[in-house]
Amino acid sequence: MLKDFTEVVEAGSRDQKLLAAIDWERLPKHVAIIMDGNGRWAAQRGQPRIAGHRAGVEAVRAAVDTGARLGLGALTLYAFSTENWKRPRYEVDALMRMLRKYLRLELDEINRQNIRFQTIGRIQKLSSSVRDEIARASDRTASNTGMVLSVALNYGGRAEIVDACRGAVRKLEASGRSIDELNEEEIDRELYTNNLPELDLLVRTSGELRISNFLLWQIAYAEIYVTETFWPDFRRVELLEAIVDYQRRNRRFGGLKLVVNAK
Ligand code: IPE
Ligand code: IPE
Ligand code: MG
Repeated sequence: MLKDFTEVVEAGSRDQKLLAAIDWERLPKHVAIIMDGNGRWAAQRGQPRIAGHRAGVEAVRAAVDTGARLGLGALTLYAFSTENWKRPRYEVDALMRMLRKYLRLELDEINRQNIRFQTIGRIQKLSSSVRDEIARASDRTASNTGMVLSVALNYGGRAEIVDACRGAVRKLEASGRSIDELNEEEIDRELYTNNLPELDLLVRTSGELRISNFLLWQIAYAEIYVTETFWPDFRRVELLEAIVDYQRRNRRFGGLKLVVNAK
């Protein structure tokens, strides 16, 4: 089955071969991507870091389009971490401008693909112009029933866990229960990702072997895929490679039974 790729994939291409190898019954429900390597991509070309971020927008488009065509339940993209404020002001401003522009330009297409847009992270800290654009995109796509696209902005895994614990403890207190009764499910329900399926696959580009404060709670049993490709060069074929690789893994979740992705 070629899903919804017939109009965009050429016969005999690597994309087509990968699509033919995918087991549609065992697609990851939730894929998250640490989009890394924009600066190094630009440096390789003797260009300023911001040129790398600009080129990275095309990779975002490709990933969103591919995720939607595959029929993923959720795609979560790490765009700005709680630590990224340490970067020079002009770089931070450029990233925020690009985000606004992306949302303005892509909203029709996102909506057309039945994608529901949301953000995760402490967006209160973002400027009101960015928050307005986020609200517009979230509202416009709120009733869509396809893939949930979450963009992580001013996101930190530790901050998320702190926020979730606060929420869970508040509920405990309100119902007069003891703190000793607090359990994993209650914290899980307070995470920013509480409306998303379990994280199955985490992709990181640019070869770095670290998590950089992304989805720390959700990563417990996610499969991790690292590619050397810098984010601006990441295209459909790379995402398909990651999914095919994921489907070859044996996921055991600590048990012995092969609950597998392998055929
Ligand atoms: C990822 O690329 C984009 C963001 C973190 C916003 P980088 O800007 O981190 O690029 P490198 O890692 O310096 O190459
Ligand atoms: C992680 O990349 C954050 C995003 C992709 C938004 P970084 O480039 O900020 O991470 P480190 O500094 O290499 O760990
Ligand atoms: Mg980086």
